[in-house]
Amino acid sequence: IFRAKTPTSLPTFLVIGPSGSGKTSLVTLFEKGAPSPTHLSQSPLSVRVSLPSTTKAASSKYRSENDPTLKLEKPLLLVDTPGHGKLRHFGLEHLNATPNLKGIIYVVDAASIPSSSTGSSSESGLADAAEYLHDILLVLQKRYTTAKSSKGPKDVPVLIAANKLDLFTALPAPLLKTSLEKEISRVRETRAKGLLTAGSGDADADDRGWLGEGGESKFEFRQMEEVNVPVQVVGGNVLGSEGPDVDKWWDWIGSKL
Ligand code: GTP
Ligand code: MG
Repeated sequence: IFRAKTPTSLPTFLVIGPSGSGKTSLVTLFEKGAPSPTHLSQSPLSVRVSLPSTTKAASSKYRSENDPTLKLEKPLLLVDTPGHGKLRHFGLEHLNATPNLKGIIYVVDAASIPSSSTGSSSESGLADAAEYLHDILLVLQKRYTTAKSSKGPKDVPVLIAANKLDLFTALPAPLLKTSLEKEISRVRETRAKGLLTAGSGDADADDRGWLGEGGESKFEFRQMEEVNVPVQVVGGNVLGSEGPDVDKWWDWIGSKL
């Protein structure tokens, strides 16, 4: 009997983030070379793509230019997940159930985040983007802290893709980074207060835990390195009058292969 190689064994990246941030646009661009018109996603979708020949995989770093294996196609899977608040269980469930998970691409609409911290975060996309990201990072942290082996689980690197930088209202990646860190600190506080009022009878709540370092210090993505979750924020755009700018995201993917 002929059996196709199971596609699940391919290196896999989860594409996750708030609704409307551009996940499906990004995945169709990576798949077909041009983004397709999208609808709100209602279920996860795995798509097989190939690393562009111009992007080097980390595993090929020491190969000579003449090495014929360099010319081989480097396939990988992208799993597009729905960002709608009621459908986020799909994304969160995939975090622990994806074989050969190489990383997470968290797509944020950088134009939905205000540039001043004085504006109310709940009116913008910031609160939503930070809350979802907080929950994902907490799952990854828990995966590390509950791991059986003393070495802990493999790295799960996270790329925060600051998308829609073609729009002039978009927040540049370094500012998006500090805005998210600040807002995640706030989410952490709110969750901790929720735990107190929920009382000790709520085992589920006890289980949730505190993201990053304890104490008074504010949350920083850097703190995630201690649980094998390196986080990087990189800007780009899928659409735009001057065409897409996604090379740095491909470079990040290549560096994890
Ligand atoms: P859900 O499926 O609901 O989770 O949303 P999604 O993250 O898949 O968003 P989607 O790819 O459907 O894009 C939402 C909208 O953003 C679409 O109208 C896209 O055309 C638009 N969009 C995506 N990327 C960009 C970009 O880089 N720049 C601009 N200007 N618009 C973008
Ligand atoms: Mg979608």
